[in-house]
Amino acid sequence: MKNHISIIIFGITGDLAKRKLIPALYHLVQLSAFSSVSIIGVGHQQITIEDILNNAQPYIEEMKENSWQSFVALFTFFQCDITNKTQMEQLAYHIADIEKPYKTPSNRLFYFAVASTFFAQATKLLHTTGLCKQTVPTDDYWHRLVYEKPFGHDLISACTINEIIKQTVNESQIFRIDHYLTKDVVYNITLLRFSNIIFEPLWNHTYIEEIHIVLHESLGIQNRGAYYDAYGVLKDVVQNHILQIIALIGMDRPATLEAESIRTARLNTIKHIVFEDGLLGQYARYTDEPYVAMDSKTPTYALLKCFINTPQWQNTPFFISAGKKMANAEVGIHIKFKKPKNIVAHPLATPHNWLTIQLSPDAIFSLQLNVQNTAQQDALVPVDMVFCHSCLFGTRKSQAYETLLQDVIAGKIESAVRYDEIEAAWRIIDSIENKNLPLFVYEPASFDKEEAIFAFKEKHTLSFKSKK
Ligand code: BG6
Repeated sequence: MKNHISIIIFGITGDLAKRKLIPALYHLVQLSAFSSVSIIGVGHQQITIEDILNNAQPYIEEMKENSWQSFVALFTFFQCDITNKTQMEQLAYHIADIEKPYKTPSNRLFYFAVASTFFAQATKLLHTTGLCKQTVPTDDYWHRLVYEKPFGHDLISACTINEIIKQTVNESQIFRIDHYLTKDVVYNITLLRFSNIIFEPLWNHTYIEEIHIVLHESLGIQNRGAYYDAYGVLKDVVQNHILQIIALIGMDRPATLEAESIRTARLNTIKHIVFEDGLLGQYARYTDEPYVAMDSKTPTYALLKCFINTPQWQNTPFFISAGKKMANAEVGIHIKFKKPKNIVAHPLATPHNWLTIQLSPDAIFSLQLNVQNTAQQDALVPVDMVFCHSCLFGTRKSQAYETLLQDVIAGKIESAVRYDEIEAAWRIIDSIENKNLPLFVYEPASFDKEEAIFAFKEKHTLSFKSKK
């Protein structure tokens, strides 16, 4: 029998807990992933746990009414300012009370689903109140801390937070997570590249013309104005999810498929990413959103051109297009191969081959090949060979956070980013911010109709892979 686990979520009333963490916990409980668990939600609002959980219900896929009450019974809510010592001491009593019936010391998972400005102070208090022991975790007994991205808001702040945390707990207790790393398709990039001999010989500037990383969301910032306005698209998704994806696409073969080797290979790529050109956008009426400054210049869209400065990728642009309130929700990677040379010339223009790795709306791999249209002998048509990961393996949308929580509980570092990767990523974002890029305003769902986008595309002869 495994020890009891207490999962303490800081920021239980926030958007992340509502949309991702509570649904993930629900499914893990349904899957009997915990032999014994208590979940302590911590927030500064006055609210009941029933209200918090009811607000999360719409985000739970395949919910079963008859399992709800037993799920609710696992939770308690504790109202607390996590930077206040006295209140954190009271939290310690609350948790001790919950854990009292269990014979062996409970394992504890502290989840920081709050802005990184709280990380350092709250971690110190976890230590001084004895809530989190500084221990080298073992299979039987552990205290672990999970920090949501972005870790810091620039290089200096990340460094300061990291120094304080490192003095308080052991590195092996720290999980600076990025949930994109646990998405099946993202995890599969490494396997796709290194377990299929057909890709690696072509995976370089000789055969690849350019790479597009697209993270388009149709939603706006929802109720996250206070957080989002302080961060914006560059820090919210480019510094972490997108740079991690570029690292997985661009990295050299890792020494092994162990997480630590992959981290090193990713770091060696991120260190060589250089920004060349870009522009930023803000959706119209963004400043009307709650908790957003009336004169805010925070970008909600970014179009960036970067390079990886290594012999493998010389002169291969990596274009990033990421934003909120886009016309179509799409997250994916499009790899555009060069046109074939020195083969028997076809009378018609040969389209590019494209490899698409799509994360959402469906998890799909597709390879676009050119074939002859038999009805029209002289026509060459591009066709897609498609493999639908989610159709075949039945992945649920909320699965990334389920995997992440299970990884942390098992002490696996697959979903966590090493601090040196974070530091290298902040160097890039800081360099982009220092450029003071122009900011244009776009109408929701029609950013691509804006003059600034046309001009950028023309300047860089960029055309995104069209949806068929
Ligand atoms: C989060 C960002 O990290 O990722 C959000 O803070 C964004 O702004 C989200 O919406 C996207 O994640 P997913 O898993 O829904 O693609």
